[in-house]
Amino acid sequence: MELESNLNETSSSWTSNLTKKRVAFIGTGVLLATAISIIVVISVKSSSKAPLALSVFKDKMNLIKDEIKWISYSTDNYSLTDALPGSTGSVDKNSVYLCRAEQLAYLLPGTFDQTDALCKVAYIRVRTNRKFDLLVTRNPSRLVWEKESAIGLKESSGRLKIGAISGGYSNNEELSVARFDYHGYMALGDLSLKYKEARGPAAGFEQHSEYYDVLYVADYAL
Ligand SMILES: *[C@@H]1O[C@H](CO)[C@@H](O)[C@H](O)[C@H]1NC(C)=O
Repeated sequence: MELESNLNETSSSWTSNLTKKRVAFIGTGVLLATAISIIVVISVKSSSKAPLALSVFKDKMNLIKDEIKWISYSTDNYSLTDALPGSTGSVDKNSVYLCRAEQLAYLLPGTFDQTDALCKVAYIRVRTNRKFDLLVTRNPSRLVWEKESAIGLKESSGRLKIGAISGGYSNNEELSVARFDYHGYMALGDLSLKYKEARGPAAGFEQHSEYYDVLYVADYAL
């Protein structure tokens, strides 16, 4: 009788150990998957401030998991549900959304205009795309536009805070998402840290600005 109960204890503690191990294993897998999916969206750039504690970092990643993502669309099948508008303001400024499209060997963030349902990116000239991704978020308060400028970037040694949304790449450089006002029209495009200027399509041409907003995950850059 005593032996049997001992056996039972041993076996149940062994099972619970195994369960714990399995749970830990699954937990690691989920974290890894989360980390990989987040890396696609967020460029983690060096910051002048101290890095986040790892546990806080993981918590934040879990929070934004599935909340912010790029979804593939075309001119024929797009939906603006949960798409990020360029600005809240005049009706005209509301009619553009953040998109990105492949251009030559690059991936460039740009402006999706409802009036023609095309994603326009600026690369030497304005290039229109029928295939594109829209940045979608179920919780718009997780994203915030923060003012930045060429002068400000020079002062911070050309670095952005952690949490800037990555919009693509060109010339071996990761591009952040930026927007700027061009004579009352909101141009959505990219920021090159090399040139410290935002670039976007407006009035039919590639436009540049030394004053712009950069898109960040809110409450991420502490
Ligand atoms: C829309 O069409 C494009 C191109 O045909 C396709 O890659 C994409 O998956 C489609 N998106 C949806 C949400 O159906």
